[in-house]
Amino acid sequence: MTPPFPRTAVFDGPRLAAVGGVAVDELAAAWGTPLYVLDRRELVARMRAYRRAFGDDVTVVYAAKALCVVGLLQLVAADGLGVDVTSAGELRTAERAGFPMARVVFHGNNKSHGELADAVRLGVGRIVVDSLAELERVAALGERRGDPVAVLLRVTPGIAASTHEFIATGHDDVKFGFPLSTGMALDAVAAALGRPGVDVRGLHCHIGSQITATGGFEAAAAALCRLRADVHACCATILDELNLGGGLGIAYTRDDEVVSIDDYARGLLGAVRAQTAADGLPAARVTVEPGRSLVGPAGLTLYTVGTVKHEPGLRTWASVDGGMSDNLRPALYGARYEVVAAGAARASGATAATAATRRYAVAGKHCETGDVVATDVELPDELGEGDLLAVAATGAYGYAMASNYNRVPRPAMVIVGDGHADLLVRRETVDDVLSHDVALPGGPAASRPYTARP
Ligand code: LLP
Repeated sequence: MTPPFPRTAVFDGPRLAAVGGVAVDELAAAWGTPLYVLDRRELVARMRAYRRAFGDDVTVVYAAKALCVVGLLQLVAADGLGVDVTSAGELRTAERAGFPMARVVFHGNNKSHGELADAVRLGVGRIVVDSLAELERVAALGERRGDPVAVLLRVTPGIAASTHEFIATGHDDVKFGFPLSTGMALDAVAAALGRPGVDVRGLHCHIGSQITATGGFEAAAAALCRLRADVHACCATILDELNLGGGLGIAYTRDDEVVSIDDYARGLLGAVRAQTAADGLPAARVTVEPGRSLVGPAGLTLYTVGTVKHEPGLRTWASVDGGMSDNLRPALYGARYEVVAAGAARASGATAATAATRRYAVAGKHCETGDVVATDVELPDELGEGDLLAVAATGAYGYAMASNYNRVPRPAMVIVGDGHADLLVRRETVDDVLSHDVALPGGPAASRPYTARP
C-alpha cells in the first residue's frame, strides 16, 4: 500500500520527489514552506469521477467549506459543478471566481439578514432553510421582491453517522435542520408551502463528514424519500429535489479503508430509486455535495524540519515550521496523517537507497502539547535541519481551518500540473497578521520598572 498522495506523485524510494511534474525541492525553494500544494490532475479526475459515477441526471455541488479560494472555485466552475457556500465570505469567493450564481447553494444554521439579502440579490440557485425563523426571513425577502425564493428545507433524518462526534450532523439533537423524528420536518414543509415568498423545491440532508461506510447515507436517503411521500400525502405536493449532502470519507493513511465514489453513488442512487418506487412517486432530481473527497486527496503540505530532538528511552521528535495553525485536524479530531521525507536529503546526504530509518513523532512549532502532525512515523534515521517532509491528503479542511495561532502567518498555496506551479494563495507575512491590530492612542505607556508587586 502506498501513502495517499496525488496520482502524479513521483517517489525516489520512500521520498516524495515530485508532484504535478514539479520537483518538491523546486516548490520549496520557489515558494517557501510550509506550503500547501494542490495537484490539478487529481482534482479534475475527482470532479469527473463524481460526475461519471452519478450520471447526468444528478447535480454535483462542491462543498466549498473544505477549501474556498478563488482559483480553485474557477476550476470547479469550469468543470460544470455547482458550489455550496455557508457565509458571506464563501459567497463572495464564488462571486469573485465568476461562479454562475444559479449554481450556488447557500447553507448555514445562522445566516444573517445581510447574508440572506445578498444571496437573494445575487440570485443564488437555492437557499437551504434551516429553521422557522429563517423561513420567515427568506419568505419576507421573496414577498418584498414579488418573486418567490427557491429553497430546500434541511432535514435532520435521525441517522447517527459513524464518524467523529464533532462532525456527525444527522442524528437528533444537533443544531442543524428540522428533526424528522418529532414531526417538525413535515410541519416545516407544510408551513413553507403556505408562504408565497418561497418556492419549496425539495429537501436536504447531510449526516456528517469523513464517513467510511455506505449504510448511513442510504438510510438517510430513504428517510428523505419517505418524507417526500408524507409531504405528498399531507399537502398534495410532489417535491422535485433531494439534496443528499456530502460526507464521503477519504484515506489519510495507507491503512485507511474507504468507500469508492462509484460504490457510494451506486448505493445512494439505489436507495433513492428503491424507496421512490415503493412510495409510488416519480423520480426526484438528486444533488450531492462532496467537499473533502474532491479536494482532500489532491492536496499535500510541505514542511521543513527545524529541530530534531532525541530523547533516549522516550521518543525522537522532528519539529516542523508549521503545525496546528495550518492543520488543526490532529489536535481537534485526533486525525492521523501520513508523513514522508521529501526532496533530496539535506541533513546527512543519505540517499534513498542507503538510508536507515527510525520512528519519529513529528511536531508543529506551536506552544501546545497537542500540536503534533503525526505521532509514530518511519522517517530517515539522519533526518535533520533543512530536510523537507510531505504530509498527504491535506487538501480539505487544512487551509480552510487555518489560524494565526502564535501569530504564525498562514502558508502559501500553489496548484501544480504538467510541470508548472501557479500561486493560489500568497503567503501571509507577520505584517499581514499585525495589520488588524490597533495600538492604543498615545503611544507606549510610560514604562515603570518591573516589580513583582503592582
Ligand atoms: N454539505 C453540508 C451541508 C456540509 O455541512 C458539509 C460539511 C458538506 C456538504 C461536505 O462534507 P464533506 O464531503 O466535506 O465531508 N472540519 C471537519 C469537517 C466539517 C464538515 C462540515 N460540513 C474536518 O476537518 O473533518
